[in-house]
Amino acid sequence: MALAAAGFEPLILDNYANSSPRVLERLARIGGGRAPRAIQGDVRDRALLDRLFAENSVKAVIHFAGLKAVGDSVSQPLSYYDNNVNGSLVLAAAMQAAGVKTLVFSSSATVYGEPERTPTPETAPLSATNPYGRTKLMVEQILVDLQHADPSWNIGLLRYFNPVGAHQSGLIGEHPKGKPNNLMPFVSQVAVGVRERLTVHGNDYPTVDGTGVRDYIHVLDLAEGHVAALRHALARPGLFAVNLGTGQGASVLEVITAFERATGKKIAYEIGPRRPGDVPASVADTALAGSLLGWRAQRGLDQMCADSWRWQCANPNGYDEP
Ligand code: WQD
Repeated sequence: MALAAAGFEPLILDNYANSSPRVLERLARIGGGRAPRAIQGDVRDRALLDRLFAENSVKAVIHFAGLKAVGDSVSQPLSYYDNNVNGSLVLAAAMQAAGVKTLVFSSSATVYGEPERTPTPETAPLSATNPYGRTKLMVEQILVDLQHADPSWNIGLLRYFNPVGAHQSGLIGEHPKGKPNNLMPFVSQVAVGVRERLTVHGNDYPTVDGTGVRDYIHVLDLAEGHVAALRHALARPGLFAVNLGTGQGASVLEVITAFERATGKKIAYEIGPRRPGDVPASVADTALAGSLLGWRAQRGLDQMCADSWRWQCANPNGYDEP
């Protein structure tokens, strides 16, 4: 939607492993017209990619296709390396063959490992504490080497912090399959009664109240950040890495309080042990996103909670029919 609103004509390729084709009809309802063109397929299918580039005048690619649950990556590393790393290699090779050399890549704040300081700037040392983070770091390094070998590539590496929320219409949002790994969808399911209570993963971290601190960013701000990054990549040759966050941290208990304030619902929770792989705090230094892209997040935690709640209430079964 953000791309169309900015005058681009998106063509979507999705294998719907973590989404549903029903989102297309929702996009049409929001946009008041026809749904964006979408092809069901896998980024690892080189023949399909070659055909898409041959049949369409593609100016740039935004590469979101990847698995993203840290816990799952520990138990299924091969699936993460195949989807995230192999998928990126196949895509980059197909782009090179087609002469399409502008790419915006969905990276992650997990490439900072356990940051030495927060807020964390893009110049911070890179490392990874789990297979998911290692896949993101590997793809970043592959793209750095590619652009170094062929400076005609224009590449943007977008390091997402914690994307949450939903479109304000309540028509599109995230519906994790099975038990949610992430905090916001889990809290939302407790609020609506799908889950009994939240387990807070540790309250003995060196943070404001002992619980994990993260930089939650509204998914619509994230989308607008992609448009700004795409415009920059199309206008200026080279490679850049930029944080997409708000620069504001919130602890787990602060998220619970904000969600209760936004919904009027009580969130039952218990304190459990730390979750392996978690870092105490992860907050973006947002200066470069502002100076390089002219972009800043606009939406606060209360709106993230309110929009998440509206989506949850209107779609208790996600995109599946009730
Ligand atoms: C947030 C906080 C947990 C669940 C995620 C994605 C990763 C990346 C960044 C994009 C932590 C606590 C959580 C629960 C809890 N996204 N928590 N109880 O781990 O920061 O990473 O966002 O690249 O793909 O995994 O997010 O929402 O899982 O956890 O206490 O049931 O909430 O310990 O402090 P995380 P999260």
